[in-house]
Amino acid sequence: MFSFELLHNDRSCRARRGRLHTPHGAIETPIFMPVGTHGALKAMTPAQVEETGAQIILSNTYHLHLKPGESLVKKAGGLHRFMNWDKPILTDSGGFQVFSLPKKKITESGVFFRHEHTGEEIFLGPKEAMQIENDLGADIIMAFDECIPYPSSHDYAKKSIHKTLRWANSCLEAHGRSDQALFGIVQGSVYEDLRRECAEQLTAMDFPGYAIGGVSVGEGLELLKQVVDYTEPFLPSNKPRYLMGVGLPEDILESIERGMDMFDCVIPTRYARSATAFTSRGKLRLTNRNYRRDFFPVDPACDCYCCRNFTRAYLHHLFNANEILSATLMAIHNVHFYLNMVKQAREAIEQNCYIDFKNDFLGEYGFFEK
Ligand code: GUN
Ligand code: ZN
Repeated sequence: MFSFELLHNDRSCRARRGRLHTPHGAIETPIFMPVGTHGALKAMTPAQVEETGAQIILSNTYHLHLKPGESLVKKAGGLHRFMNWDKPILTDSGGFQVFSLPKKKITESGVFFRHEHTGEEIFLGPKEAMQIENDLGADIIMAFDECIPYPSSHDYAKKSIHKTLRWANSCLEAHGRSDQALFGIVQGSVYEDLRRECAEQLTAMDFPGYAIGGVSVGEGLELLKQVVDYTEPFLPSNKPRYLMGVGLPEDILESIERGMDMFDCVIPTRYARSATAFTSRGKLRLTNRNYRRDFFPVDPACDCYCCRNFTRAYLHHLFNANEILSATLMAIHNVHFYLNMVKQAREAIEQNCYIDFKNDFLGEYGFFEK
């Protein structure tokens, strides 16, 4: 039901072209997964999400557990049915959200925290995360891990990866559905020896896929590149590699070059709501007065629904008038931009010209002018 085909390696770097088979269809990699935290991409219908070229979306165990609860989602026929999305879904385990809470108690078996609204005490550990993710029914589910802050000491990070490894084992034992692929998550902060140890131990447990977690936590692009550089050689090449929570276009392109296959981030939808558009020539702030009489599309090089039908002047007006259509149109464009970027990356890898593609893309985007 779940398999990964490695189709091609770019000859000049570690970028790879692959295909991931899931019960809800195949995913061409490298791929970007837009985020629907509460079982919806903010401001978008599933039909609009599909039209952007999305092949898989991400949703969150933590949020769906609190509201509406996994038993209700299960009763609705699973998350795919509940939200009317027929393509693959990945759920994150809550290992990131719970650890970003201000008040929590971390123990050997999991994390105690308080419900955001009711104040009720809730416990989430590897067994609980697996039960919730099994009930939600996504195609790919993530192990329960500890995502530690940046910076963290080597001593703390070392203790933490050992806990993450014990939890990964518990997840394997508790995972009860053969139609869901459970991915392990490599932690270890910015420490090469810990990343290596964690990757090797997880690989020995034989997961169908591996993620690199604990990045995009304020370490910056140079450290992100280093972490991916020294972790990637210890991940099996015949399994998909998912870089969690990454990122800006430049972060994704640099990481594809270093052998990563899957990405997710709230940036395209979040930035959409604050009037920031990603374009082939860099980011635009559509609330800027310069766009008041600008009758060009948001990105003349884009063929999304927004760019085919509306102008910058119209978007500027919608944002000024607080019309909710602004969020929808901007999200359609931004998500399309990300998916078009990874589509171009896949084509470049097939032609063995990934590095040239990346340099051209970032050159046009204005990345080197910063
Ligand atoms: N999302 C972004 N980073 C992480 C991480 O380290 N762990 C988990 N579970 N989710 C993430
Ligand atoms: Zn567009």
